[in-house]
Amino acid sequence: MGWKTLDDIEMAGKVVLIRVDVNVPMEGGRVTDATRIEKIVPTVTDVIARGGKPVLLAHFDRPKGRVVPEMSLVHVQPTLATALGRKVVFGADCVGAAAAAAIAAAGPGDVVLLENTRFHPGEETNDPVLAAAMAALGEVFVNDAFSAAHRAHASTEGIAHLLPSCAGRLMAAELRALEAALGAPVRPVVAVVGGAKVSTKLDLLGNLVTRVDHLVIGGGMANTFLAAQGIEVGKSLAERDLGETAREILGKAKAAGCTVHLPVDVVVARAFKAGALSETLPVSQCPPDAMILDAGPATVAALAAVFATARTLIWNGPLGAFEIEPFDAATNAAALEVARLTKAGLLVSVAGGGDTVSALNHAGVAADFTFISTAGGAFLEWMEGKELPGVAALMS
Ligand code: 3PG
Ligand code: MG
Repeated sequence: MGWKTLDDIEMAGKVVLIRVDVNVPMEGGRVTDATRIEKIVPTVTDVIARGGKPVLLAHFDRPKGRVVPEMSLVHVQPTLATALGRKVVFGADCVGAAAAAAIAAAGPGDVVLLENTRFHPGEETNDPVLAAAMAALGEVFVNDAFSAAHRAHASTEGIAHLLPSCAGRLMAAELRALEAALGAPVRPVVAVVGGAKVSTKLDLLGNLVTRVDHLVIGGGMANTFLAAQGIEVGKSLAERDLGETAREILGKAKAAGCTVHLPVDVVVARAFKAGALSETLPVSQCPPDAMILDAGPATVAALAAVFATARTLIWNGPLGAFEIEPFDAATNAAALEVARLTKAGLLVSVAGGGDTVSALNHAGVAADFTFISTAGGAFLEWMEGKELPGVAALMS
């Protein structure tokens, strides 16, 4: 694989710096979704079992190099302590005397959490002086923050060159799952890509059509492709200026032998609100004053037939306006079908990226997918075929 794991590095009696991503949703100083915190428990527990003293480095939100009290990691300390079932000692800075004092104060089995790395301007500029100051605190570096690996920051990239480094359990699981989905997948491979805008996913679509056998396009993005083919999309969300780009992507797919699937029927409404009066129509019959808000049942049936032939599936983005009923129907039904095939052992299914995980949680199927990434931007960049600096630094 090119990167080491916890099994490859001696850590008994050593201070082990672990880069984690605890950038979790928070409201009024309280964590509202602890998923990312819970996912780092195996790595921290394993480091302790191997005799290492775990010291967590992490960012929170985007303080842009200044100390912003609401973005202090002290707010995640209680949730972290609960998830780990251990005492968490907080250090009021991620370098220097405050950090060293917290590390010294931690006893056997305790975990140290250091303050937001992004309180220092050198974090995002990958300042070698800051990276060296962090590295000076410990003897081993573990990166368990796949979801921050698309950032070349001091605590993700710079530090990895300064200490013996390896991937944590979560990082390793993410990399293995993505490798199974797009690196060396069992074919046929289907990619499901949805979401609002083609313009934010151009690189993604361009890469996928050369890598997968089937590309399913859903959500607002599908409208752009429909409009590019001269199909009436009424008042739908669509990037009408991207017609040429959409046609180029379709041409590239054809040349690469990738079959593109667009909606064959659509759910339309005159208003975008819960319970709005809606109707299902063939894709060619969207009225000029209506908006396409979801794919219809014939589309879902066609997708189910494609899924049934596939062995690997990668999913990013909802198929419709899933936040509002009844426009979550196609996303829910397609997700249920993927879950069913996965549970039957017929499909390896990997999903990730921003809205995707909320859409799959909403459909109640997230637990039935083979792997759900904790990453947003990093998952997308990986799907775009880009090198992630935090991962690349573990290779050297
Ligand atoms: C995320 O939430 O996607 C990661 O923690 C990275 O955060 P960032 O987009 O602020 O770099
Ligand atoms: Mg983010």
